[in-house]
Amino acid sequence: MSEHQLKLKQDVAQAALHYIDDGMILGVGTGSTVNCLIELLPKRRLKGAVASSQATEDKLKALGIEIMDLNFVGELDLYIDGADEVNPNLQLIKGGGGALTREKIVAAASKQFICLVDESKWVTQLGLEFPVPIEVLPQARSYVARQLVKLGGEPVYREGFVTDYGNVILDTYHLAVNSATDMEQTLNNIVGVVCNGLFAANQADKLLLAKESGVEVLSR
Ligand code: 5RP
Repeated sequence: MSEHQLKLKQDVAQAALHYIDDGMILGVGTGSTVNCLIELLPKRRLKGAVASSQATEDKLKALGIEIMDLNFVGELDLYIDGADEVNPNLQLIKGGGGALTREKIVAAASKQFICLVDESKWVTQLGLEFPVPIEVLPQARSYVARQLVKLGGEPVYREGFVTDYGNVILDTYHLAVNSATDMEQTLNNIVGVVCNGLFAANQADKLLLAKESGVEVLSR
């Protein structure tokens, strides 16, 4: 990552701190942008955090932040996470780090989802450049790949990677994501798919977009 990109990630993480209150149980995403935020979390006295991956959980624990089980905390006030691509409807592609399923669960269980990106993630249409990561049960990998080809996609098996849930990822290029909500549903309907990286029906509520000129806030 270039120094410039790291600076944008740090800027957007700093801006996100404004939305986090003392006493909150915060849903915390995964990735290099969120890692910049995690470093700042000791500035707040959180009641605890729900982590979206083992990697995030380890980082939070190292800072002494209490990890809570989503099943015992009810609805979260706030989930904060990064994204691989974001469109003007604040719909996202996520899962570059392979944590998409747990991320989607924690996002769905939160009242508000704030997404943090630098300007390189902003696109007019999802999926033209970044592939849609699809988490698949290992036994169904070839079957699901054939269905993705029928949809016009080009699935690439993420070699040597296993998700926190013991599944595999098919990074799928060239899917026609004209309607992100329709494609999200279509992918979910393939037997053997656990989750897909389109966050369309349940998109971000707010986007903090880091640019050279400052951090823009977009709401839907
Ligand atoms: C992990 C994700 C990340 O949010 C996404 O890959 C963005 O990562 P980064 O902040 O490192 O650019 O979805 O599964």
